[in-house]
Amino acid sequence: MADLRVFPDKAALAEAAADWFVEHVSRNPGRIAVCLSGGSTPESLYKLLVGRDLPWDRMHIFWGDERFVPSNDPRSNARMTRAALLDHVPVPPENVHPVPTDAASPEEAARLYEATLKAFYGKDDLDQTQPLFDIVLNGLGDDGHTASLFPGSPVLDEDASWAVSAEPGMEPRVPRITLTFPALESCEAAAFLVSGEGKRAVLQRVLDGEDYPAARLQPVGSLTWFVDRAAAP
Ligand code: 6PG
Repeated sequence: MADLRVFPDKAALAEAAADWFVEHVSRNPGRIAVCLSGGSTPESLYKLLVGRDLPWDRMHIFWGDERFVPSNDPRSNARMTRAALLDHVPVPPENVHPVPTDAASPEEAARLYEATLKAFYGKDDLDQTQPLFDIVLNGLGDDGHTASLFPGSPVLDEDASWAVSAEPGMEPRVPRITLTFPALESCEAAAFLVSGEGKRAVLQRVLDGEDYPAARLQPVGSLTWFVDRAAAP
C-alpha cells in the first residue's frame, strides 16, 4: 500500500515535503547523499529548503536525470536547482555533482556520471544493505515517466548500468541522461512530488499498479507520495 499524502495545494505539499526531507537528513549523522529531480514541481520545495536548518557541509547533491544542454541553459535541471537552492546555501562546491553535460555526447556524459556515482559509493556493485542515496526525489510525467525513464524505452530494463542516455518521450525534446531503476531504487527514502490536475489520471493508473515507469520504482527503503488535491485521484 502506497504511503499517499494529499495536501490542499502545491504550497502545502512543498512544506510537507520539506519537513520530510529535513527529517530524513537528520537521521544520518554522516555523509548524506541526495538525488534531486528536475521538472517544475520540486522548485518550490527547493526554495523552502533554503530556509531550513540542514547540515550542508555533509550533504552531497546528485540528480536523477538531466537534459543534455549547457549548464546555463534554461532547460537544465541543475540550473533550476542552483537558482532555487544551491546558490543560496553553504553546500561545498565539491559536494555538488551535476551530470557533465559538457561531455562529447549524452552517452559519454552518462558514462562519466556513473563513474562519479561509483567513486562516491566506493563500490561498483550496489549493495541493498548500503543504499547509494539517503533521499531520492522523483517527479511524475503525465505520460507516467519518472526521471527520464519514458514508457516503452529500452532503458526501463537496464539493470547493469547506473546511468544511461535516453531519448526524450516529451518536451523538452533534447537527449537526456537518466539514472536507471537500480540506482534510483538504492535509497533509504524516496518521494514522488505530484501536483496539478493534469497528473490526476496518470497518478490514478500508477497507483492502481498499471505498467508505467513510475509504477515500477521499488526503492529498497520507504516510498512516500506527496500529492496536491488537484492531482489526487
Ligand atoms: C525532467 C524530469 C522529469 C520530471 C517530470 C515531472 O527532467 O523532466 O526529471 O522526470 O520530474 O517530467 O515534471 P514536472 O514537475 O515539470 O511536471
